[in-house]
Amino acid sequence: MVRIMHKDIGDILFSEETITARVRELGAEIASDYGDKNPLLVGVLKGSFIFMADLLRAIDAPVSVDFLAASSYGDKAFTSGKVDLTKAVPADTVKGRDVILVEDILDTGVTLKYLKEYMGTLGPASVKICVFLDKVTRRQVDVEADYVGFVCPDEFVVGYGLDYSERYRNLKYIGSLKPEVYS
Ligand code: IMP
Ligand code: MG
Repeated sequence: MVRIMHKDIGDILFSEETITARVRELGAEIASDYGDKNPLLVGVLKGSFIFMADLLRAIDAPVSVDFLAASSYGDKAFTSGKVDLTKAVPADTVKGRDVILVEDILDTGVTLKYLKEYMGTLGPASVKICVFLDKVTRRQVDVEADYVGFVCPDEFVVGYGLDYSERYRNLKYIGSLKPEVYS
């Protein structure tokens, strides 16, 4: 068996089994909160796509799905970091809807603060945020998630959709990258 990816991983923070159980709980919580309101889940590409696929199937209630793409650039240490919206959502799909933004990880918060404000301009009934991981201690701007899979330590993590240089998204667990991989 080729295990070339796994050797780059230091610690496994969240195993496949742990993730499955937690995503099931999140789905049940969303189903219970929204009932038959048919929320529109908007995933932030690319990092959210695996989480989104599992979360959707864990929601036993009507839901719709769409995606947008955004990339933050510049120095992330600055609170004034800019976000580039590279794929938007048509305004008429959002108007009057209960939107849940779905993202892989909340880090400085720059991306989701921007995206929540952007969504607000499209006339939704409500906007909430669901993140798989929350690096609470890294927050630079005022934004909070309404649904959080796991609080994540301040380490660079990969897997379950999260990448380093477009790799490791396909790992079934969340692991920290060995420092020698990115140094
Ligand atoms: P924020 O705007 O600083 O909150 O950045 C969020 C984005 O940074 C996420 O969507 C990820 O693409 C990326 N990111 C932050 N921390 C990590 C990590 O530990 N692993 C992989 N990507 C990360
Ligand atoms: Mg991302």
